[in-house]
Amino acid sequence: MIPIRAYRSQDWPQLWSILEPIFRAGETYVFDPDISAAEAQGIWVDTPPLTFVAEDSHAQIVGSYYLKPNQPGLGSHVCNCGYVVAEAARGQGIGAALCHHSQVIARAEGFRAMQFNLVVATNHRAVHLWQKLGFEVVGRLPAAFNHRRYGYVDALVMYKSL
Ligand SMILES: CC(C)(COP(=O)(O)OP(=O)(O)OC[C@H]1O[C@@H](n2cnc3c(N)ncnc32)[C@H](O)[C@@H]1OP(=O)(O)O)[C@@H](O)C(=O)NCCC(=O)NCCS
Repeated sequence: MIPIRAYRSQDWPQLWSILEPIFRAGETYVFDPDISAAEAQGIWVDTPPLTFVAEDSHAQIVGSYYLKPNQPGLGSHVCNCGYVVAEAARGQGIGAALCHHSQVIARAEGFRAMQFNLVVATNHRAVHLWQKLGFEVVGRLPAAFNHRRYGYVDALVMYKSL
């Protein structure tokens, strides 16, 4: 199993090199494809209380996730996560390892469920992976995502009780 550890501030340049092409592509996350590094840092590591990274055997960061409450107050027992794996490292189970890890951490932090608010329906790899890991599609938002290549496509709300 790939080592997963808490994010440290010196990880940012490596983590940004994974996030940047994903955000610029505009195919899987809603963030402005022209997002700055500082804004991305705010979203991925400053705002969420927890961010983790996966490292390969050369101590290179190959993936990451953040974990935060999905809603304040009376909705704060449900968490939300975002996941990324470096393009060259995909298809080796790192996404699955990150998601497993996030569920263990979420339970330990007292969260009772995990919700993904906007899984782009054309992101077949992610939809397949989350379903395999026990997440259910609880809603389909028609044309809710403006995909950079395909235009308006559906987005899925996915949910798992922990
Ligand atoms: C989604 C993401 C995190 C998955 O990471 P990963 O390390 O490739 O995931 P894994 O290797 O653990 O699993 C990928 C699964 O998708 C499957 N898969 C790959 N391409 C696929 C496709 N086009 N359609 C359906 N399934 C596909 C793989 O076979 C594997 O499933 P399996 O274990 O049943 O064989 C990664 O692709 C990524 O960072 N994508 C860009 C950002 C993103 O989409 N984040 C999630 C937003 S909801």
